[in-house]
Amino acid sequence: MPKIILSVFVIILSVTSVWAHDDGDPADHHDEVDVSEAVVPEYPTYYEHVKPILELHCTACHSEGQIAGDIPLDTLESAVNGASDIAFNVSIGYMPPWMPSDLSLPMQHDRSLTDSEIATLMAWSDDFAPEGDPADYTSPADRFAMIEVREDMILQSEEPYEPDETVQDDYRCFAFQMELDEPQYLVAYEFLPDVMEMAHHGIIYKVNETALRGVERRNGEDGRPGWSCYGGVGLSVGDDEMIGTWTPGTLPVAFPEDTGYKIEDGDFLIIQMHYNLAITRQPDSTMVKLQFADEPVRELMTIQLTAPVEIPCPSDIDGPECDRVNALTRIDNLYGDGLRYFPDSLLRGCDQTLNDYAENTGEHAIGSCDTTAPIPLTLYGVFGHMHELGRSFHLEVNPDSDDSVMLLDIPIWDFHWQDRYQFVEPFQINRGDVVRITCSWDNTLSENPRYVVWGEGTEDEMCFATLTALVPGQ
Ligand code: HEC
Repeated sequence: MPKIILSVFVIILSVTSVWAHDDGDPADHHDEVDVSEAVVPEYPTYYEHVKPILELHCTACHSEGQIAGDIPLDTLESAVNGASDIAFNVSIGYMPPWMPSDLSLPMQHDRSLTDSEIATLMAWSDDFAPEGDPADYTSPADRFAMIEVREDMILQSEEPYEPDETVQDDYRCFAFQMELDEPQYLVAYEFLPDVMEMAHHGIIYKVNETALRGVERRNGEDGRPGWSCYGGVGLSVGDDEMIGTWTPGTLPVAFPEDTGYKIEDGDFLIIQMHYNLAITRQPDSTMVKLQFADEPVRELMTIQLTAPVEIPCPSDIDGPECDRVNALTRIDNLYGDGLRYFPDSLLRGCDQTLNDYAENTGEHAIGSCDTTAPIPLTLYGVFGHMHELGRSFHLEVNPDSDDSVMLLDIPIWDFHWQDRYQFVEPFQINRGDVVRITCSWDNTLSENPRYVVWGEGTEDEMCFATLTALVPGQ
């Protein structure tokens, strides 16, 4: 079974805190969404009600050539034949994939269904999926203000990338050095994955010239374009700044009006692609279209927040691999660069000691850190990141107070659906506001449990957030 399906099942099981590693029927573990109050058309039909919902929320992934193209939902036949599967998967909140809960600030391009849309799909399926009259169909397209990204620059490898034969998930970085007469402001981008069935996610990082040595060392090191990279760009540079992401279903992205990321001559833009090779394995020529501002705009920056990662072994495992000192030695051997000191400096940076995590267990470990805003900030969006042991992620302003605001709440973490969320309205942080990042993990999800600390590899973990903000004073 493809890995992606397994992992999603495991995460669904977590809803009931019943940790099992089988892939049982999600219905056994996942409650139906309560839609009893929802307003539903008396006689829902495919053309009038269902087709517009599927087009808005499903077919970006469920059509030929897309990530879920093996389950098409973009024709009358496929929808009618799949009616009960559609109804079931939306009734348990499994589809469409949308990770932030309603506690989060409202986000652009929210894929989730309203209760009334869920109830409509369920009622249609219960009525044996009537077709209705094609004349009753109205296109939902204008509800999405789809933007056009002007092609000022294209990032694409000179030769197609042939995925690694030895892995099921291939993470690859491709570097592009900027040659610019004058600084440019990136205001919009569009990912155009080539082999959609393999494209799991993409990230655009900006790194300054200091990356040059690392790029020269790593690029093409295994005889193929780019290099293998996982939790970041894998170049041991301190200032990699994540400026854009793509996951299946992501529309072209424009930053808020009159804002952009400043790109200077010599900077690198590094594209990280995650290829999931469960369906197919083909040479890939993904490209990214960039649009620059016609004149200078207000500059964006990325603020990075981190919390300590101190994840003990599950209680039924005991051995040298469960020792923290051995864990530090292991990451030092793997990655060098003084990474063995990083877990301690994360603790110090949060004014914490290991004692603060004395209650962490392998079954339930948390990492949390408070940061006080030194100046007022305007925030436009947020991204949260953990690896595969993650269970939940929260980013909250002024926690434990009357004016607390949840920026991003992901109650059921899924490594495979990480997105950079852009708020519908900018959010203002005041000087002195506290921003708290909190991650939780379950080490029983690991195939190879050991004491886990911060690191870039699949078997290491992170607790990491970025906030897109306006550079102050503009
Ligand atoms: C962002 C991409 C995306 C969107 C949007 C999306 N899906 Fe899916 N869907 C997937 C992927 C990938 C799978 C296969 C892997 C899995 O089961 O998670 C899938 C699986 C399914 C399945 C089969 C589940 C099973 O395992 O039996 C159904 C049915 C389904 N989706 C219906 C829908 C419907 C209905 C919508 C819209 C309301 C929707 N999906 C929106 C990506 C998406």
